[in-house]
Amino acid sequence: MGLKTQQQPLHLGKQTYFGEGALRQVTGIIKNYRRILLFNDQAAFKACGAEEFFLPIIEKFPIHILSYSGKALPLEDIQQLYDKNKHIRNIDLIVAVGGGTVIDLSKIYSLAYSNRLIDLDIILGDKIPENKIDLVFIPTTAGTGSEATSFAVVYKDKKKYSILHPTLLPKYTILDPGLLTSLPEEILNATVLDALAQGIESMWAAGGTAESREYAGMAISNILAGLAETERMKKSEAFQLGAHFSGKAINISKTTLPHAISYPLTSHFGIPHGIAVFLTLPKIAELNYHIAATAMQPGLNPEQHRKNFLTLFKLFEVPDIAGLTGKFKNIMEKFNVKTRLRNYGLKKDDLSRIAENSYTKGRSDNNPRKIDRKTILQTLGEIF
Ligand SMILES: [Fe+2]
Repeated sequence: MGLKTQQQPLHLGKQTYFGEGALRQVTGIIKNYRRILLFNDQAAFKACGAEEFFLPIIEKFPIHILSYSGKALPLEDIQQLYDKNKHIRNIDLIVAVGGGTVIDLSKIYSLAYSNRLIDLDIILGDKIPENKIDLVFIPTTAGTGSEATSFAVVYKDKKKYSILHPTLLPKYTILDPGLLTSLPEEILNATVLDALAQGIESMWAAGGTAESREYAGMAISNILAGLAETERMKKSEAFQLGAHFSGKAINISKTTLPHAISYPLTSHFGIPHGIAVFLTLPKIAELNYHIAATAMQPGLNPEQHRKNFLTLFKLFEVPDIAGLTGKFKNIMEKFNVKTRLRNYGLKKDDLSRIAENSYTKGRSDNNPRKIDRKTILQTLGEIF
């Protein structure tokens, strides 16, 4: 099933198909299954060209389609859609064609259908059931890299939960940059900011390993190459690879403080995820660079920490931390992203609530610098 025209880039799994036209591989996969559930966002599915491709396949194979157009996943909405479709039984393949939200939704439903769950609240607890259904992920944005992670992000009462289980990794991944070419530049850019931040955060994460740092480096270098690219297909290709590697990187290292702060910014103020993450990135990069030994996360090797920043300087071709944060700001400028929180409808009074909700275990413990609410509040104040 290998692609003839494209050389497989290094580090892509054996069942990851990459390159323009890779979508065609899905037919060979689907024919081995009996009952298939396809997740999409109807409008995006049509716009990216997937609908035209899938029409004859849908006529020929037993495929049931579930569409979702929300930009995030409140558990209440997921439950509602699930209740309407609980009669669907014996699914043996789930195909998700869409951005991170659609892919995450399909992960939740793979748990639900595998275990015939009734009340989906159970996945918010400590005992997450395993997924027994084969998954095919086909991203149509270059953002979250969700196709390469074993977790899904959902919200309950505006609080963010990360649902994690190793069985949420797909059996097959199809990375077809052709699906990205119709994406408005604005969305392509906003989503790639997420991927770039994931690469950067993964590089400095306390939980990083040699392997995750290698993926993080590949994520950053591909995205930077995409930024410099003028031809759209080549840009899409580089961004898509970068996003995928950023997923592989954070699947090991997890993300850090900019991500932790981004969740309340998104759930309370509707700031798109990639932008929400990037807003605090320059300030947090500075904070994380200058760490006194006593403020360093236990378990993080100071020498490794120094090396991680040197790697970032090298990747971004800058001499020092000021150069690095300058580059982050340049990228936001290039993408016309407003850099102040007040531009997004926040009031000064909102900052303490954001700081309160940012302080999540796991994400904050993974930041190289130990962080308290006061520091978060101060950082938010500086970019207000
Ligand atoms: Fe992210």
